[in-house]
Amino acid sequence: MNKFAETTRQIFEGWEEFYKKPTDEKNRFFESDGRLMDIIFAQQFDRPFLDRMSRLGDMIRLLAKTKLGQNHLRHLLPHKRAMLYFSQPSTRTFLSFQNACYMLGLTVSEIRGTTTSSEVKGESQEDTIRTFASYVDMIISRHPEAGFAEKTAWVLNQTDRAIPVINGGSGPDQHPTQALLDIYTLEREFSKSGGLDGKKIAMVGDLKRGRTVRSLSYLMKNYQDVALYFVAPKIYKMKDDITSFLTRHQIPYHETEDFKSIMPLVDAIYMTRIQNEYSEDPSHETETYPAFHFKKEHLENIQAHCVLLHPLPRRYEIDVAVDKDPRAAYWRQERNGMWIRAALIAYLFRVENEIEDVFS
Ligand code: CP
Repeated sequence: MNKFAETTRQIFEGWEEFYKKPTDEKNRFFESDGRLMDIIFAQQFDRPFLDRMSRLGDMIRLLAKTKLGQNHLRHLLPHKRAMLYFSQPSTRTFLSFQNACYMLGLTVSEIRGTTTSSEVKGESQEDTIRTFASYVDMIISRHPEAGFAEKTAWVLNQTDRAIPVINGGSGPDQHPTQALLDIYTLEREFSKSGGLDGKKIAMVGDLKRGRTVRSLSYLMKNYQDVALYFVAPKIYKMKDDITSFLTRHQIPYHETEDFKSIMPLVDAIYMTRIQNEYSEDPSHETETYPAFHFKKEHLENIQAHCVLLHPLPRRYEIDVAVDKDPRAAYWRQERNGMWIRAALIAYLFRVENEIEDVFS
């Protein structure tokens, strides 16, 4: 279907001022009764929350192994409805949220791409969101624009349908639930070596436009003695907002283009792909940056306990031959997203006690 009307641009008084504020000042706006209500930025998560979500994720994982446990989970939220509004492509975030909802008994509606919504008639994004809020109890969004989920929550919180909004990825900016599942994965992978505290983590690839590494970097403020190694081609190096944040929080970071030199030093390597979708003309960006790929022969260079992560999808960054090595944790990481997102939804609808009580 051809788009036949330009999107209506509505002016919301106060939005520009709000958007410019430091995150610390905005967090309260996305809380209710001292609890998180909207999940917009990774900076909203503190250590007790991260630890609790990881424990809850483990409990849901265990319950889901049996029919009895699955029944318990399914009867927690059958009275709630969720909207998956994904106007930017996604496989994992969409499916893991959808299945997390099913697991907890929620009914799910979806719009994948704006061509099937009344946005083609020129309806504004904000009116579109208000419409979703008329029908459902929670919105999970994926959008190409930075700040989209934040504006959605900001608009809805001023209406009589202030329902939870979860940011499932907003442009090259933030992907807080990916950061949550990355933390969950790291804590699980390091469960026999004291957890994430004290670990050295390399982030490799397009760090400038990779929202996953940006969100994960913010979460490092919650862990003791962590050090980061940013490994990227010059044009895709980590942006100043993140490095300033790390400096402010006294988290050491090192920047290099020499991937091989840091391989033996680190406890985890987080690979990312080049985010061509944010290029002015992606067809011009054909360089794959092989110096920033992890190849089978590199398995000899890393420590015996080193964990290999990737938010996926991958292209050339990790050889498929690496997948068989037990240190390749990215397929486990992907599945962890479903458990931790179920934990998050249970928390947002305040039924987490009904899961925790099973284990007390
Ligand atoms: N990691 C991640 O966000 O994957 P998708 O784009 O497939 O959702």
